[in-house]
Amino acid sequence: MPSLSSLAALAITAARLVGAASQAYTWKNVKIGGGGGFVPGIVFNPSQKGLAFCRYVVHPLIKHARWNYWGVAALATDPVQPNRLYLAVGEYLNSWDPNNGNILISTDTGATFTPSPLPFKVGGNMPGRGMGEQQRLAVDPNLNSVLYFGAGGGKGLWKSTNFGASWTQVTAFPSVGTYVPDASDSNGYNSAPIYVLSLPTYLPTDFHLQVSHGSLSTRCTSGSSGTATPRIFVGVANVGTTNIYMSTNAGSSWTAVPGQNTTYLPHKGVLSPSEKVLYVSYSNGAGPYDGTLGAVMKYNIATSTWTDITPVVDSSLGGPLYYGFGGLTVDLQTPGTVMVAALNSWWPDGQIFRSLNSGSTWSPLWNWQSYPTMNKFYHYSDSLAPWIGPNYVDGTPGNTQIGWMMESLQIDPFDGNHWLYGTGETIYGGRDLKTWDTKHNVSISSLADGIEETSVQALISPPSGPPLISALGDIQGFVHNSLTTPPPLSGVWSNPQWSTTADLDYAGNAPSTIVRIGTGDSSQGKQVAISNDGGATWAQDYGAADNVQGGKVAISANGDTVLWRTAGQGVLVSQYTNAFAAVSSLPAAAVIASDKRNNSVFYAAYASSFYLSTDGGKTFAVKATLGSSNNMQKIAVHPSVTGDVWVTSDNGLFHSTNMGSTFTKISGPTAAWQMALGAPKTAGGYPALFVAANIGGIGYFRSDDQGTNWIQINDAAHGFGSVSSNPIAADLKTYGRVYIGTNGRGIFYGDVAGTAPPPSSSSSATRSSTVLSSSTVKSSSSSVKPSSSSTVKSSSTVSSTTSAPPSTGTAGAYAQCGGQGWTGPTVCTSGFTCVAQNTFYSQCVPS
Ligand SMILES: *[C@@H]1O[C@H](CO)[C@@H](O)[C@H](O)[C@H]1NC(C)=O
Ligand SMILES: *[C@@H]1O[C@H](CO)[C@@H](O)[C@H](O)[C@H]1NC(C)=O
Ligand SMILES: *[C@@H]1O[C@H](CO)[C@@H](O)[C@H](O)[C@H]1NC(C)=O
Repeated sequence: MPSLSSLAALAITAARLVGAASQAYTWKNVKIGGGGGFVPGIVFNPSQKGLAFCRYVVHPLIKHARWNYWGVAALATDPVQPNRLYLAVGEYLNSWDPNNGNILISTDTGATFTPSPLPFKVGGNMPGRGMGEQQRLAVDPNLNSVLYFGAGGGKGLWKSTNFGASWTQVTAFPSVGTYVPDASDSNGYNSAPIYVLSLPTYLPTDFHLQVSHGSLSTRCTSGSSGTATPRIFVGVANVGTTNIYMSTNAGSSWTAVPGQNTTYLPHKGVLSPSEKVLYVSYSNGAGPYDGTLGAVMKYNIATSTWTDITPVVDSSLGGPLYYGFGGLTVDLQTPGTVMVAALNSWWPDGQIFRSLNSGSTWSPLWNWQSYPTMNKFYHYSDSLAPWIGPNYVDGTPGNTQIGWMMESLQIDPFDGNHWLYGTGETIYGGRDLKTWDTKHNVSISSLADGIEETSVQALISPPSGPPLISALGDIQGFVHNSLTTPPPLSGVWSNPQWSTTADLDYAGNAPSTIVRIGTGDSSQGKQVAISNDGGATWAQDYGAADNVQGGKVAISANGDTVLWRTAGQGVLVSQYTNAFAAVSSLPAAAVIASDKRNNSVFYAAYASSFYLSTDGGKTFAVKATLGSSNNMQKIAVHPSVTGDVWVTSDNGLFHSTNMGSTFTKISGPTAAWQMALGAPKTAGGYPALFVAANIGGIGYFRSDDQGTNWIQINDAAHGFGSVSSNPIAADLKTYGRVYIGTNGRGIFYGDVAGTAPPPSSSSSATRSSTVLSSSTVKSSSSSVKPSSSSTVKSSSTVSSTTSAPPSTGTAGAYAQCGGQGWTGPTVCTSGFTCVAQNTFYSQCVPS
């Protein structure tokens, strides 16, 4: 099995073979600070002090350019050999992720990984992803060659006896988990069964210091080192039937733990070794967003008895109860100290409870002094991520600070004063936890310094003003006046505010005019906003209807016209913030762009067609057919020359200097995705081109000579996940600087660090001037029917060229023919057409 880094190296070697030389770049994260997204798990290694992982922190460890390695469903750190680290990876259990999952195996604490394929999907981004925490993947602390993995999607419990190299199902395990959040969900996201969750937790009967962390794999006692641990607990996502099982013979047979209460879903199971107690938190939802009731229970192993220790949520404890419980932890240095987090107490704030007597009594992080005044038994600092603010959910009564979606809560196994917890937004914690019990005034700080978890939707780098503006998932986005300090609180966008910004554009003749579009419910306001001051302040675009959101956006050169390819309502256009009107001449999924100089000119592309509008986006007509392209990706527009456009597609890269009347197919790229034009190498020269492409290998490339020579700018250590879907922007002020947005690892910026290789004179690296003839479709007609692709194709003449990509074969009837990360055939067998079902999956359906 090749390691991931050697796979990446192979791709780059291949790229060099075809003439794309490389240049050293430095890559750094644009500093946002404080994470930025749900933190489903935090894991301390139980035997090595100071070794902690949070499930999203492992992303930087995964450097391979394969998208579905980025969803981490579970993580296990080896209590015997702390250098061993395991990740269960895969994004979705439904069709959104066509690939099966993997266990990634590291023997060097995450520096390199070897994938071990699983025969089923793994859903790191599914409902219930916070359940079970690290324990969905567990290492036997007595025999660390043995691992268990609790799979989702009804696949049951799996076991490896060779350090994760191969896996077999534990057929003796009686349940695969039947709970589904919403059986009626036709897209499969909410209707997939949740994982076998939690655990396996190895239960000690006597406590060995070298494996001390209860919530992880803990040394068992009924066994001894070198022999598989006999007693194992496993939680399962069931409601109303057994949901906690136990084995006392190392997994040969399993029985229900007697006396258990199956009213709610178990979320976390944590062992307190010296108490010989299993603590369990429960919620009536799978999370991470839901849950309206729950419980906390403990199981005394010696006496086989359960005790309900749910914090008595009366008004002194912020009650009554209206949430379930998630994060759960014990202080291994002080037996009897237990903490549990409300999974989703949305109002007035999150809640965490701490007990010093094994759950007999609890003290909360806040309570009501007299409604609506809260007593806060903590103080809060946002200094590492000022944009989170002193009260980070604006407008919520009670100065929301503690958080929500709190599935991960850990006390450092070596230091009872050090704690961390994950929220829907970031990681909080502190180093004076015991002041909770003494001064009743614990400190909570945003601690995710150096962690960038955001999912980047779009990036722009206007020719004047800030170097970068980002559209981010969950936390809107920012104007990045600095790349090295986190944005200030004043940089949080308002009017309107929505969680995810889908796209951005700037007006070429008025670069401080910016448009952004959002993805959110209508209560968050119109989903289009315009700024005339470079993104500092915004106004809602009242031309937008309330129920329309998402997609892509382009703003005209003077900034008065917005063209909007919405998520579900087709392409719309509006001038002077008048009501958006349908653009019937464009397909609903068209790629769109604005000319940066001529206010009347917009561009679009779909299937194999390139479209032009010269009337401010009201009507479009097909101008050209770009070879055998099926899937247009991006139209990148020259920042200062009208009509100079670049188009990327599954068929490569095309350039026009006459508004699309003719195109040149660029030799080299066999497929290209995102693209941007940046500052030229020499003043007054043609902009540097940056493209994510396959040029003898998939990577990021720059050309300083309009595509004649390509230089690879990423290296084996910087794959950035999914090359084909990462947005990019090029700096128009700093030559060579490019910004790459990732899905879950924030924004990287790259600067030239090494000398550029000399231009190649070999024919393979030379631009071929294959001019595609222009279409005969009348450009003035708005009656062109774009959805009829066969009509469009036949109206243009495509010269076949020697630069056509090699055939990659034909996909069969109903077979996959595309989607993010898909490398197989994209052309369907006769009688079938490749149709995108979603971002991740295209299928051959009858024509
Ligand atoms: C089980 O738990 C639920 C919720 O906490 C509680 O209402 C119920 O009384 C419990 N059942 C038993 C038999 O203890
Ligand atoms: C809690 O501690 C902080 C920091 O030392 C202090 O500013 C604050 O006044 C304290 N709160 C109370 C109620 O004593
Ligand atoms: C913008 O483009 C249109 C269509 O080609 C043209 O008629 C018009 O003159 C151009 N406007 C300017 C200011 O160049």
